[in-house]
Amino acid sequence: MTPSTGHKVVLITGASSGIGEATAKLLAERGHHVVLGARRTERLKGLTENIQTAGGSAEYHPLDVTDAEQMRVFVDAARSRHGRVDVLVNNAGVMPLSKLEALRLDEWNRMIDVNVRGVLHGIAAALPVMQAQHHGQFVNVASIGAHQVSPTAAVYCATKYAVWAISEGLRQEVGGDIRVTTICPGVTESELAESISDPVGREEMRTYRSVAIPASSIGAAIAFAIDQPAEVDVSEIIVRPTASHA
Ligand SMILES: NC(=O)c1ccc[n+]([C@@H]2O[C@H](COP(=O)([O-])OP(=O)(O)OC[C@H]3O[C@@H](n4cnc5c(N)ncnc54)[C@H](OP(=O)(O)O)[C@@H]3O)[C@@H](O)[C@H]2O)c1
Repeated sequence: MTPSTGHKVVLITGASSGIGEATAKLLAERGHHVVLGARRTERLKGLTENIQTAGGSAEYHPLDVTDAEQMRVFVDAARSRHGRVDVLVNNAGVMPLSKLEALRLDEWNRMIDVNVRGVLHGIAAALPVMQAQHHGQFVNVASIGAHQVSPTAAVYCATKYAVWAISEGLRQEVGGDIRVTTICPGVTESELAESISDPVGREEMRTYRSVAIPASSIGAAIAFAIDQPAEVDVSEIIVRPTASHA
């Protein structure tokens, strides 16, 4: 039986800042138990304590999504502790933008490893659990960059097009028991642009990111998708600043 409403066990990757952090706070406020993963565990510890102080239910675990085994342990530990995994929010992502001619191969590979392989590792870890329990939901955080490409963002957008495609394929394959939601944020306040080391990429983003919405607005979209009745699959939501031209 899918617990379509009420308290769910929600795993969130990349919960140490930005959208993941805001989503964790909001879902905990709504009574869900949140299981937080990221590499900066001191941030997760503080967030967990804040949620608990506010009366919510949370726990945290170190997680590098590029490591399939760490992801498996993250999911299995939650399943062992709570008996089920209701939702996995594949949110972790990086965005070190640059023009292709800058040939920043390390950064291209890092985006592919975190943004694409990380999501696949989440699916590999959680899909067998959800299939066995005959319910579950993947919430995959793509981007407005899954729908449009801009200069310096070719590889980042490619990773987000990939997240979109993987999510849609997964939805078509597992519909029935398991829900799949793709969330496509426009420019949102977070630490994401801090991963841009290339000067051209930084300059390009300065104007582009000058109009942003709070991370909680993405958390609200994720909460909406999670809190729908079991028979309702919110397949995709695009949330962008009203003043955005892109
Ligand atoms: N902000 C925007 O404008 C925007 C727009 C569209 C889409 N998005 C997407 O939203 C998602 C969240 O980003 P954000 O904007 O909230 O940026 P953020 O504040 O930089 O958060 C990124 C999160 O990803 C985590 N992360 C990075 N590498 C990781 C790894 N190897 N293993 C585990 N966690 C990792 C970071 O945690 P640690 O460093 O502690 O591991 C951090 O918690 C990303 O997928 C991003 O592409 C954001």
